Amino acid sequence: MNHRERSKSIQNSWAEPYRMKVVELLKMTTRKERISNIRKAGYNTFLLQSKDVYIDLLTDSGTNAMSDQQWSGMMLGDEAYAGSESFYKMEAAIQKFYGYKYVIPTHQGRGAENILSQILIKRGNIVPGNMYFTTTRLHQELAGGNFKDIIVDEAHDPFNEFPFKGNIDLQKLEKLIKKYGAHKIPYVSIATNVNMAGGQPISLENLKAVRKLTLNHGIKIIHDMTRVAENAYFIQQREKGYGQCSLSDIVKEICSLTDGATMSAKKDALVNIGGFMAVNDFDIYEQARNLVVVYEGLHTYGGLAGRDMEAIAIGISESVDDYHQMARIGQVEYLGRKMESFGIPIVRPIGGHGVFVDARSVLPHLSQEQFPAQTLASEIYIDSGVRTMERGVVSAGRDKYGNNIFPKLELVRFTIPRRVYTQAHMDVVAESAARVISSAKKLRGLKMIYEPKYLRFFQAKFEKLSS
Ligand code: F0G
Repeated sequence: MNHRERSKSIQNSWAEPYRMKVVELLKMTTRKERISNIRKAGYNTFLLQSKDVYIDLLTDSGTNAMSDQQWSGMMLGDEAYAGSESFYKMEAAIQKFYGYKYVIPTHQGRGAENILSQILIKRGNIVPGNMYFTTTRLHQELAGGNFKDIIVDEAHDPFNEFPFKGNIDLQKLEKLIKKYGAHKIPYVSIATNVNMAGGQPISLENLKAVRKLTLNHGIKIIHDMTRVAENAYFIQQREKGYGQCSLSDIVKEICSLTDGATMSAKKDALVNIGGFMAVNDFDIYEQARNLVVVYEGLHTYGGLAGRDMEAIAIGISESVDDYHQMARIGQVEYLGRKMESFGIPIVRPIGGHGVFVDARSVLPHLSQEQFPAQTLASEIYIDSGVRTMERGVVSAGRDKYGNNIFPKLELVRFTIPRRVYTQAHMDVVAESAARVISSAKKLRGLKMIYEPKYLRFFQAKFEKLSS
């Protein structure tokens, strides 16, 4: 049966295909306490203590609720230092659902990015990709590469309705190949469901065209598959010819068009920690198997406990379930629509892992140097204890000459953990955002008073501008 129709025939809403067995109690705070908390945290939501947060939409990374199957699987974790049975289960799940041949476990996504970048990138190389991601780009740069953004222009316009804003602009890619030569480009870095563009998908049609072009030049494609099942859902819903396909088939087809992948299992794969690198080329695998012991641990655990690998194996199979993904993205869409009904300017189309509010439109009186998205995130916390995060100039960091990078997108990300919050929580979030935005004109911006060298958004500190 047509999968788009199947989901509609059984239920008209995105209602969850699970029920709750355990709940975690939350502490409620007063406005006065929250003002003091955020000031102490230097107006950086990453520096708040989680006990002081009511609804935590900082990230969807490692914040998922595991299923009863995953929890029971954890009891079966084989904690042997070498040759853990749990590793072989994880490896089998990756081979079955993603189709890659060789697997290297890592403690999380950036561990895989480090190893892969060190193997494939040489000093002076160019790494084109569909928009940067913070840790991915940093590892590419630390390995001596230069990241070049070749995503379609539509991705940089928050209100453009293009359904595949994660697509590669083939002309931009061709230009780079012409300018630098294919030998300077070790691979094209493709993210499925582009985080920094607002959780936007790449189409299979585009990926196939990129595959054709890169094969002609002998260039590899490396897949950041952190949210591949979410991307597959959008393909199933939007791309011609894929309404009949299961998510599982679409995920496999995406992976088959690439040479290898890095994965943060903390997102799609529904666990709290873990990641891996997977490739089809034995030589690359051999180098990775050697490097992983330097940075992560033996090649059959890579910094993970056996129980974590067990939970990943089960989480991967749950992530490609059609009903799971319908509820997951359905909830994100619910929040997005609710915000729109309040007139809040959000990135369109609504993305896969969160709703992104356009801070420039909300705070037009603040320049990007006054950190509008950082300001808005801190004010939302003060209003309701809802924790969001900045995805704008703070996240973008500095270029190699030390200048601030001013991205076109200056966003506050409301990221939804999987299987954690209810529809009523989403109402609280949208109402709080609306309240803050209705009096946004009087909000003052921020000044950065502490800036760490790497990935500054995690630990930077700010203070309020006096006027
Ligand atoms: N790639 C993408 C697209 C990501 O979103 C992340 C993490 C990583 C790689 C790195 O993986 O955290 O396991 O080392 N994103 C988190 C976020 C941190 O909040 O978006 P990791």
